Amino acid sequence: MLRQPVNVTVTGAGGQIGYALLFRIAAGALLGPTTPIRLTLLEIPQGLKAAEGTALELEDCAFDLLRGVTVTDDPAVAFVGVNIALLVGSRPRGPGMERADLLEANGRIFGPQGAAINSGAADDVRVLVVGNPANTNALIAAAHAPDVPPERFTAMTRLDHNRAVGQLANHLDVAVGMIQGLTVWGNHSASQYPDVFHATAEGRAVRDLVDEQWLAQTFIPRVAQRGSEIIAVRGGSSVASAANAAIDHVADWVNGRGTDWTSAGVVSDGSYDVPPGLVCSFPVRSVDGQWRIVTGLERNEFSRSRIAASVAELVEERDAVRALGLLPPRRLA
Ligand code: NAD
Ligand code: LMR
Repeated sequence: MLRQPVNVTVTGAGGQIGYALLFRIAAGALLGPTTPIRLTLLEIPQGLKAAEGTALELEDCAFDLLRGVTVTDDPAVAFVGVNIALLVGSRPRGPGMERADLLEANGRIFGPQGAAINSGAADDVRVLVVGNPANTNALIAAAHAPDVPPERFTAMTRLDHNRAVGQLANHLDVAVGMIQGLTVWGNHSASQYPDVFHATAEGRAVRDLVDEQWLAQTFIPRVAQRGSEIIAVRGGSSVASAANAAIDHVADWVNGRGTDWTSAGVVSDGSYDVPPGLVCSFPVRSVDGQWRIVTGLERNEFSRSRIAASVAELVEERDAVRALGLLPPRRLA
């Protein structure tokens, strides 16, 4: 039996990730085959035509689950009654840039969108920020939505998590489904720390299967720099893998994912010495539809220093957007 339709809003819907994302959402990949979806596509005026064209194509797919598509350039319209908001719209970086170089230009997008979510969203709204720098943009959006519980705002580090699983599975020559217990900590940036010290491959401890040199000199930099590698090789930032990770994040958030954990940028509650309120990537499990940080994991000196370095960068980004006046003084935790 079909459930009630869920309202899904995608910002930047006329862009590349939007195009890779929307058809999979409408086909049921986000919420499963029994949940109808109403889509709202938010763009800026220059992007409206592309979003309108995508809406025409969505109609032409005759998706069973799709119960309507609205295209708008008004955030106040886009977030009315929204249950799931995918905040993609923002500039991607080009060659030679770091994601933090986008802080000022993109940060300005997320305050007004957070405020519009605050005014119009459904009580159960869940927000995933994809637009870079994703963690700090999520912090800005959450800070502008004082009536929405902070834990409903998340940032995407699932792409990093999936990249780490893929690299490890290749290196050990095992199926990706046999890798468990991996975590990406910190910022969605070059400082992120993909941590294998609790991971298993086919039930065996990964730390016994890989050498430290490979971890420090190959695996960690390859995963952390994968966005730059894609830009260099492809000539533009990741698109399909980003859309896929956004779907994984929301699908697992809503429906859970068995016993293994995954990684997501969530508002810190102070766990693992991460300052409360920062949006930081942690090991998380979805329990009853809410992300819960997996607690009690031992961290060796190496892990502690890597996590601390990425958290220090998040603190710097937070202070920078505060200095730019992009962060109102809401207490997030
Ligand atoms: P794109 O340039 O193809 O599309 C972005 C779209 O956003 C454009 O159509 C633009 O008109 C629109 N836009 C800009 N400002 C907007 C606003 N205020 N409201 C609504 N729409 C707006 O870029 P893309 O390849 O789709 O990437 C989008 C973002 O996702 C970039 O910031 C990119 O760096 C980021 N990204 C994040 C991850 C991640 O893992 N977190 C992965 C890949 C890409
Ligand atoms: C990625 O990780 O691929 C994205 O964040 C895009 C980028 O700028 O690296």
